[in-house]
This record gives sequence, C-alpha cells and structure tokens, in this order.
Amino acid sequence: MAEQKATHITWHDAEITRDAREKMLKQKGVVLWFTGLSGSGKSTVATAVEKVLYEKGHLTVVLDGDNIRHGLNKNLGFSPEDREENIRRIGEVAKLFTDAGVIAMTAFISPYIKDRDQARSLVDDGRFVEVYCKCSLKACEERDPKGLYKKARAGEIKQFTGIDAPYEAPDNPEVVVETDQQSLEESAQTVLDYLIKQGII
Ligand code: ADX
Repeated sequence: MAEQKATHITWHDAEITRDAREKMLKQKGVVLWFTGLSGSGKSTVATAVEKVLYEKGHLTVVLDGDNIRHGLNKNLGFSPEDREENIRRIGEVAKLFTDAGVIAMTAFISPYIKDRDQARSLVDDGRFVEVYCKCSLKACEERDPKGLYKKARAGEIKQFTGIDAPYEAPDNPEVVVETDQQSLEESAQTVLDYLIKQGII
C-alpha cells in the first residue's frame, strides 16, 4: 500500500455534489470492475456494454489495462507489487469517476482478491460491481489475441497470469459472464440487466 508522504494538505468539499450530477445524468455513479484472465473478454464486454449505454444516453468511461499502462501506469510492470500499485491507482481513478456520477468500467486482470477488495473499499456500498469474466485458461490460450500466451509458454514473457503467475477468481462477484459459453451479446446483456435491476440506469 502506498505510504502517505504529503503533509499540510487540506480536503476541499465540492459544491456541485455527486447527487446533483447524478440527477443531471439520470444514472448512478458506479464502477463496473471487470476481472479475469488476459483474453477473457474484459475489454470486449465492457466496450459492448458501453455502446448500449451510450445509445441510451448514459455517460461512461472504459479504463483498460493495456491503455492505462501506456500512460498513467507506464512505470509499472507485472510483479505482484506493481500489479498492486496498478490496481490501487485505478481504484482511485474509478472512485473519482463515480464521484462525478459516471459509470466507470475498468478492464484489468486484477489477479489478487485483496487488491480488488481494496478498490471496492474506496466507494460506497452498491457502487462497486465486480464483473467476473469467467473463461477457461484453455479458451483464453486458444484465442491468444495478442500472441502473449505463446510467448509465455516459450518463456519469452515471465510472470504471465495463468501460466507462471496466479489468478484468484472472485468468491462472490455481483455479476458473472461466462465468455467461453455465452455470446458477446448475451454477456453484455447480463451486465445491463444487473444495472437495470439495481436501479443504476
Ligand atoms: S494486472 O494484472 O496488473 O491487472 P493489466 O490488466 O494492467 O494487469 O494488464 C494486463 C495486460 O498486459 C494483458 O492483457 C497483456 O496484454 C499484457 N501483459 C504483458 N505482460 C503480462 C504479464 N506478465 N501478465 C499478464 N499480462 C501481461
């Protein structure tokens, strides 16, 4: 966990509140935290959900692991410590978006339960929706969209999740999509149904 280094800092409350923004946006600010192996469909499902939400007039953002590692988190690798810091920062960013009333979707492997729980603890109850992209390693490896499993098997990439680094599946996620069993449309609909049922949209 990152240490608090700054001293003599003062919190300023916003004048335009989350409530006010949510009324304007006609939605609840939440984080949809997609987790699963590389190639399990996190970004693909998040993008499909986002398209439907956009068409319905909702304000969303997708934060994708590969993309964020080009900028904000470019100084982080794939050791357990770096993955923890990666998820810590994204948890904070996602919280900022929920405070702004936005539906934030994060697509990170986020392999450790404790790191995901830490991200969950940053937002109010009901505002963290863990979406487990359940997909067998075999199916992810067959898809291998970036050719990385092949490289990991050949020993060219070390500490690759599912090969020589762990993935801890969620015990009790709010939503499960089985991307090696369901179509993309079905997976997206499963997420959307949850949002409607919970009154998020
Ligand atoms: S996380 O474990 O810290 O949550 P994150 O989602 O940001 O990972 O990044 C995962 C993506 O980085 C993968 O989809 C893959 O494209 C790439 N990648 C590169 N090296 C690794 C590795 N050793 N393990 C997992 N993914 C890797």
